[in-house]
Amino acid sequence: MNKTIAIIGSSRRNGNTGKLIDRIALDLNIEVIDLVAMDISAFDYEHNNIDDDFLPLMEHLLKHDNIIFASPVYWFAMSAQMKVFVDRLSDFLSLNALKDKGRMLREKTGYVVSTSASKEIDASFLDSFTNTFKHLGMEYGGCIHINCEQGYSTNNSDIDLVNFIEKLNPENTKVAI
Ligand SMILES: Cc1cc2nc3c(=O)[nH]c(=O)nc-3n(C[C@H](O)[C@H](O)[C@H](O)COP(=O)(O)O)c2cc1C
Repeated sequence: MNKTIAIIGSSRRNGNTGKLIDRIALDLNIEVIDLVAMDISAFDYEHNNIDDDFLPLMEHLLKHDNIIFASPVYWFAMSAQMKVFVDRLSDFLSLNALKDKGRMLREKTGYVVSTSASKEIDASFLDSFTNTFKHLGMEYGGCIHINCEQGYSTNNSDIDLVNFIEKLNPENTKVAI
């Protein structure tokens, strides 16, 4: 099984962030899971939503070493769809039955893939991921950000993208330019 998997939370699966993560997934031959297509509800202190798609999704993600979180920047933050998923990680911290599973995250590396209408990635956006990884004991592997102010556009010669893909490439072979 591939060591890497991606989740995407965007208001449009085939929008800018979708195109970027699909480009990465094509090179790495990895699975991309659309959070919007899953039944994952907001964190519930009573855990009445324990039977939705969150736990099966986590079981699947935990079979991988590297987890890519792909989200557009919406209002200086991660998308609402991604935030619902991240909030649900609290299930692993608050339910005794899940704490051992939650500790497995300590062996994982998190990566961030983002698009926005700005040249630079918003610090508030990136910090919310890196601080989450830190809190969970995950390693932070790096991020790739593409400015889509003029629409989505990248190509094989985008050096940041090439470097990002190479970092995750199991054979560590050079990505064709
Ligand atoms: C609701 C909303 C909020 C946005 N907020 C920001 C923002 O805070 N900063 C920014 O640079 N771009 C912002 N944008 C632009 C998007 O980040 C950008 O178009 C992104 O590539 C969209 O990705 P998507 O096609 O996956 O939705 C926003 C777009 C939307 C729809």
